[in-house]
Amino acid sequence: MTITFKVIEKVDAETISRILYIEQEAFGDGALSEYVVVPYMRYGKVYAAVDEEDNIISCAYFMRDMGDISLAYILSIATLTAYRGHDVGTALLNYAFSHIKRFGIEKIQLTVDPANFKALSVYREKLGFTVADISKDEDSAGDDRLIMTKDL
Ligand SMILES: CC(C)(COP(=O)(O)OP(=O)(O)OC[C@H]1O[C@@H](n2cnc3c(N)ncnc32)[C@H](O)[C@@H]1OP(=O)(O)O)[C@@H](O)C(=O)NCCC(=O)NCCS
Repeated sequence: MTITFKVIEKVDAETISRILYIEQEAFGDGALSEYVVVPYMRYGKVYAAVDEEDNIISCAYFMRDMGDISLAYILSIATLTAYRGHDVGTALLNYAFSHIKRFGIEKIQLTVDPANFKALSVYREKLGFTVADISKDEDSAGDDRLIMTKDL
């Protein structure tokens, strides 16, 4: 299996529909819609891992902080279930980090559900993110989020 990594530059129906499929598979009702994905493609940075046929199998969304232009925020990352556990998510983020540095990004931040052990394994164990803070009851009561950061 040969996986390569790229920035998604082209906003076309096929790419959008593939990304929405990955989102839907990963998050169900909580999936990002085209109203979020397309602005991220146009004004943020969307990084993808693709297979030999150029099919997207994993996707990560980055935005720059308006208050601190050296900081980027990862909105989300998802890998198709069939490809999980093969280092694709970790390698995609490493690719994204080395690419995004050219825009002056020096620090990455994200939030994660403390119970999302697979994501935590990628962020903390494999990529070296540390917990900067805990946001209690972020979306609703009992819905805490870890705020994690990493210097590039
Ligand atoms: C989090 C996610 C993007 C990781 O993607 P991935 O391509 O599987 O990432 P990696 O293969 O680099 O690492 C996955 C880690 O998950 C854990 N894992 C263990 N068994 C696994 C399995 N059968 N399948 C998937 N992950 C497994 C491991 O800790 C693995 O790390 P390891 O390689 O050191 O064992 C993926 O699990 C996913 O899409 N989850 C649903 C969406 C989500 O929760 N996104 C994060 C929101 S903050």
